[in-house]
Amino acid sequence: MTAPGRRRPAHVLANAPFRRLWTAMSVCSLGDWLNILALTALAGNLMQDDYRVQSLAIGGVFVAKMLPAILLGPLAGVFADRFDRRLTMFAADLARFAIVLSIPFVHSYQWVIIATLLVECINLFWVPAKDATVPNLVPKEQLESANQLNLLVTYGTAPIAAMLFAALSVVGDVVTSTVPFLSGRDATGLALIVNACAYLVSAFLIFTLRGIPKRDGAISTPSVLKQVIEGWRFVGGHRMVRGLIIGMLGAFAAGGAVVGVAKIYVGALGGGDAAYGVVFGAVFVGMALGMFFGPRLLRQLSRRRLFGLAITVAGLVLVTIALVHNLPIVVMLTVVLGACAGIAWIIGYTLIGLEVEDGLRGRTFSFLQSTARVTLLLVVAVANPVAAIFGVHVLDLGEFAYQFDGSNLVLVIGGVLATAVGILALRHMDDKKGVPLTADVIAAVRGERLGAEPAEHVPGLFVAFEGGEGSGKTTQSRLIAIWLRDQGYDVVQTREPGSTKVGMRLRAILLDAAERGLSARAEALLYAADRAEHVEKVIRPALYRGSLVVTDRYVDSSLAYQGAGRALDPEDVSKINAWATGGLVPHLTVLIDTPPQVGLTRLGGAADRIEAEPLEFHERVRKEFRKLAAAAPQRYLVVDGTLPPEVITRQIQDRIHEILPDPVPRESEDATGTMPAIRD
Ligand code: TYD
Repeated sequence: MTAPGRRRPAHVLANAPFRRLWTAMSVCSLGDWLNILALTALAGNLMQDDYRVQSLAIGGVFVAKMLPAILLGPLAGVFADRFDRRLTMFAADLARFAIVLSIPFVHSYQWVIIATLLVECINLFWVPAKDATVPNLVPKEQLESANQLNLLVTYGTAPIAAMLFAALSVVGDVVTSTVPFLSGRDATGLALIVNACAYLVSAFLIFTLRGIPKRDGAISTPSVLKQVIEGWRFVGGHRMVRGLIIGMLGAFAAGGAVVGVAKIYVGALGGGDAAYGVVFGAVFVGMALGMFFGPRLLRQLSRRRLFGLAITVAGLVLVTIALVHNLPIVVMLTVVLGACAGIAWIIGYTLIGLEVEDGLRGRTFSFLQSTARVTLLLVVAVANPVAAIFGVHVLDLGEFAYQFDGSNLVLVIGGVLATAVGILALRHMDDKKGVPLTADVIAAVRGERLGAEPAEHVPGLFVAFEGGEGSGKTTQSRLIAIWLRDQGYDVVQTREPGSTKVGMRLRAILLDAAERGLSARAEALLYAADRAEHVEKVIRPALYRGSLVVTDRYVDSSLAYQGAGRALDPEDVSKINAWATGGLVPHLTVLIDTPPQVGLTRLGGAADRIEAEPLEFHERVRKEFRKLAAAAPQRYLVVDGTLPPEVITRQIQDRIHEILPDPVPRESEDATGTMPAIRD
């Protein structure tokens, strides 16, 4: 995966030895996934008579699959480093082939468990040998692409294996029922044979792989437990990272719950092994979709909020999956569930990349990976016994009976847990406190963005006037300031650009018609610079004194003129302004909405830089102002600029009256009197 614009000498797959290793890895991954599916299905089929025993039997396979890596992982890593890597992988592949092939012939549950433990122990040699080989075959600058390709086949083969398993189960069923010699045998046998052959193919590919340099670049893997404890020491104290990790593990656990009980759940719904494969595959198809489309989804919504939301929705979907006893619906919901988990995972990963400082990032990732493994083991290990203990209960509802069994219970618990974790993550990480989530989501669905920061809690009141050229906002803001002063308030009337010493010089540059060469970005930055100075020297001090601040133009002008008018990325303009103002948002913004045709004809004198822009420019500006107001109606008053001025004034007075501090000081106070406390 080459980033556009970055030149790489040749794709990493053009490298023949790496391509061979990668192909072997892909085939093995496919085999591994088939293995999980076939063995859990076989375990379930071997212990079919009792629901409880069946649940425990399937749980046993998952535990056997994960235990060796957790207990013996670091040990094997050290050993793997002492042997010739190519021979290690070759021998491991042959051994895996033989063991897996024996399973359908032995056909006993004990052997399923023993064989699983053996295969996993062998994997402990195969995987580090492979990991250590990659850097030997690939130049350093291509390692990242190589790792991405590895990741792609590790997870990308899961849905393929699931579909393959579903197809093989169908074929297997037909074969076992038509060939008398095989009758009574299990259809999973075919999947296991294909699985074994995958290891054989890998053995051949590895054997013919020449020229792996021996023993350089030793790998050392600290124990999982050590990684977890050390990692927590680093990330535990960081509120945002804590929220992220809890959320990601929650998403992982929810997915684990589904995978863990899928076989018995599907069985209870009347589906066979093929249906199990489909449900299993649906999780991964969903995850892939989520990871691919997630970052493009609801661009206007804060990533942190989308993260918490995705997990919460995943939890709710999981509860629904548990309660709906209809296989096709369950499959569809499982795709949605996978998608939510995928979104959470990819956004979580990206957020860690973006927001966690450099020195902490590596540890955070490895902490996450090790805790994810432990979480998965715990969930899968606990899920089946819980299902087994609960057993099957049938709710007799007169007309029809509703079955609620252990797998339903596990899924409900998983769903409730994920919902709780999602809400926790939303709370922990919310970067838009004060903006209601539902309104924010609705706006994002419409492609609009609600105010990034909530109104700051200051003793004073902050009102901004916005509008296009000749809208009359300057006149109106003056009238309102006078009206407020008449009532005894301390009012600071100000405007942008140019209300500070530096601001006046910036204004001269900005509005000078001779400066036509000014680039759009420079223009946006100069307005933001003026605003930063304005907020720091004038607005904020006044608000903290408890004064009323009335400004003629504020951030929205930049969003409208530079964002929409000059077609800069609105998100960029919004970001630099949020930074420039320290997130200060007016309590009320009065938008005097006037069609540009009307406004422009009202102007007298020579046109400045901006007034001289064509009509379409001013149309875009107007549209953006209206959009901003529509996205946060509680913080805006939109008045029709074509109405008679006194009507406009009246409307503004009425609205400001609602948010004025109470009680309004009358004759007893003089014009510079102190402000009464503000109602929140
Ligand atoms: P000004 O003479 O104050 O006129 P108006 O009465 O229209 O406010 O000029 C301000 C000009 O600067 C106006 O054309 C809009 C433009 N402007 C921006 O483009 N971006 C901004 O952020 C601000 C504050 C103003």
